[in-house]
Amino acid sequence: MVEPLLQLAGVSKAYYGQAVLSDVSFEIAPGEVFGYIGPNGAGKTTTLKILAGLITTYDGVVRIGGVDVKTGRDRAHALIGFMPQACGFQSWRTVESALDTLADLSGVPADVRARRIPALLERFDLLAARGKKVKELSGGMTQKLGLIQALLHEPKLLVLDEPLEGLDPPSRRLLQEVLRERRAAGTTVLFSSHILSDIEDVADRVGILNRGKVATTGSIRDLTRAFGLPPELELAFSVAPADLGFLADPAVIGAGGRAVAERPDAWRLTLATDADPDAVVHALVERTLAGGGRVRKVGVAEPALDDLFARYILESDRAAGLTVPAPAAPAGGPDGN
Ligand SMILES: Nc1ncnc2c1ncn2[C@@H]1O[C@H](COP(=O)(O)OP(=O)(O)OP(=O)(O)O)[C@@H](O)[C@H]1O
Ligand SMILES: [Mg+2]
Repeated sequence: MVEPLLQLAGVSKAYYGQAVLSDVSFEIAPGEVFGYIGPNGAGKTTTLKILAGLITTYDGVVRIGGVDVKTGRDRAHALIGFMPQACGFQSWRTVESALDTLADLSGVPADVRARRIPALLERFDLLAARGKKVKELSGGMTQKLGLIQALLHEPKLLVLDEPLEGLDPPSRRLLQEVLRERRAAGTTVLFSSHILSDIEDVADRVGILNRGKVATTGSIRDLTRAFGLPPELELAFSVAPADLGFLADPAVIGAGGRAVAERPDAWRLTLATDADPDAVVHALVERTLAGGGRVRKVGVAEPALDDLFARYILESDRAAGLTVPAPAAPAGGPDGN
């Protein structure tokens, strides 16, 4: 097993006797992109500040590249690029000189800084603002400056606190693209968000934090299973086979499976929780072709992630003994609606 690049073991933190993180443990493998998700006040920023060495009084152990951040602060620091939720730049400095100083502090040599700073400013569409004072930037521009600052020394571990917040849609796409590039270059990324659907396209794995506890970690697919939701498939025909009886055949869709027509040529299948979606897809294609039909689209349907997340938070609050009313059962409609 590869040594994790980041390891948190039993991390707890309290403010004025009030627990904010309780026994948080998770690991991130080198090259992984990890989304740290939780509602407001869950403890995301507190966790990330501990990693970045900005909070030094806590219980438990945090290691980056095997280095304990408490005892090897400088060595751990060199491995990490941190973008805080609220970036505190010296507001009277120009964009370019603020970045130059920060990169210098991170040990980036002058000739490398002279190359990298304009390249990153250009990448984030900020080159024209290089001579502006930091205080003259808009919120989204300041946010991008925070990102550039975290990327400047090409850290092994990139830690971003709500990096998508406040960015317009093209900038969000750009950031997601940059994160994918970083991953391809071998950088490990940990970023927080309170919106699960924001991270599904970029995160290999997700950790869900609620009220200071990591409720679960896993891939989006693992989480869907952990949430107890059955897998769903979409199936659309460009030519429907004459006999659609196989859509009700347990030998094709598995015992407990159910198919509902969304349109005459498009179906949504809800499988039994333990069904193998890949095997069902295979059987559906085979039977469609054998029946003289043609498939336009078939595959695993994306779960409605934000609904899932809201439901999960509600469930874990209830399990923790917090009195939350049970959600109303979904209204059941007859098949074919
Ligand atoms: N310096 C502090 N002193 C006292 N309490 C604090 C301090 N910083 C954070 N907290 C408390 O710790 C809890 C977690 O805060 P944290 O900022 O880590 O949450 P978060 O998950 O980042 O939330 P958000 O999504 O709003 O950014 C909150 O209840 C907050 O009030
Ligand atoms: Mg926060």
